[in-house]
Amino acid sequence: MSSPVMSRILTVKDVPLERKRVLMRADFNVPLDAGRVADDTRIRETLPTLEYLYRHHASVVLCSHLGRPKGKPDLRFSLQPVAERLRILLDERLGRGVQVGFCPETVGMQAREMAGALAPGGFLVLENLRFQPQEEANDQAFARQLAELGEIYVTDAFGSAHRAHASTDSVARFLKPAIAGLLMARELEYLGRALQSPDHPFVVVFGGAKIADKIPILEKLAAKADTFLIGGGMAYTFLAAQGQGIGASLFEADQVNTARRLLDRAAAGDFRLLLPIDHVIADKLEANVPARVVEDIPAGAKAFDIGPRTLQLFRDELRRARMVLWNGPMGVFETPPFNRGTNEMARILADSPAVTIVGGGDSAAAVNAAGLASRMAHVSTGGGAALEFLSGLTLPGVAVLSTAA
Ligand code: 3PG
Repeated sequence: MSSPVMSRILTVKDVPLERKRVLMRADFNVPLDAGRVADDTRIRETLPTLEYLYRHHASVVLCSHLGRPKGKPDLRFSLQPVAERLRILLDERLGRGVQVGFCPETVGMQAREMAGALAPGGFLVLENLRFQPQEEANDQAFARQLAELGEIYVTDAFGSAHRAHASTDSVARFLKPAIAGLLMARELEYLGRALQSPDHPFVVVFGGAKIADKIPILEKLAAKADTFLIGGGMAYTFLAAQGQGIGASLFEADQVNTARRLLDRAAAGDFRLLLPIDHVIADKLEANVPARVVEDIPAGAKAFDIGPRTLQLFRDELRRARMVLWNGPMGVFETPPFNRGTNEMARILADSPAVTIVGGGDSAAAVNAAGLASRMAHVSTGGGAALEFLSGLTLPGVAVLSTAA
């Protein structure tokens, strides 16, 4: 499979790597808990690239940000636990004895020395890029110092590609070629295909609390999608725009006109747009409170999830799809029992023969938590980056990639 974006950019497969030192930007912005990596999905997702570089006898200097330490060293955001987790994962994958070092500085003499001492097949993780204010300032001198740590720039940091920072943007000015790792290539291939040349019927499933966050994508995909299935908090503004009672459910008054405009386009036949037909309501949003399913939301009641008839409606629709893009939870999935719609949606897509693409953020977290990621065609590691990419924006961290031309 290749999308128009992919047909142009260079990946690690296009350049000689033998005995080269690679500076690789990864997105190791992972949750930590008491100094340990709480979810290593983003680290695991870079392993195919790291293995590829290892097997081609490159040495790899890895850089990433973690959290938002505001340009100052703050050991709560150190990448050391990431380096430790990476060592375990690479040991499992490549066999014992893989060299994975950690450098307590990001750039400087020690970083230069440790990078210079790497043997082919060795890895070095630099300390958090955002311990330096120059990173987010996209500072040229800092970018040049980073660039001096490698001979080729590889990026797998799709999750950070919407940031124009020194390690995602300016570095590529000083270090060419700038090439995509296998994860970056995969992200661009699948999300690029959804955006530009989807298989039909193409069904887009949207959820999440805010319509405003999804409008640019809705508008962008309206030209390509056959059907939109809308759940989550944003559905209630659409229902209200249709004149339906939504009780005290989430409602964005400033988005009613947008919702109405999209409903009008659906009525005119531009695409189909399906909304929930039943709802899970409760008196308050708390774990395991009594909840009930209704078709009409009573005055004052709040809906926190889609109901079983809606799931059936969506399931029937998805049965016909050849490509599906899902972004945003169907209900308040952090709080059971309101996680059912989201979990069921993950299962429906896992069982689907369609090309299933999960567009990052909360829906990706739900798929990963349910252990269903391997049954999707692609689960994006990008949150904000996936949203911006699907809105049709050019991401700085993608724009820097060298092209075949
Ligand atoms: C993310 O988790 O979305 C990326 O790592 C970017 O992080 P940021 O929003 O702090 O720039």
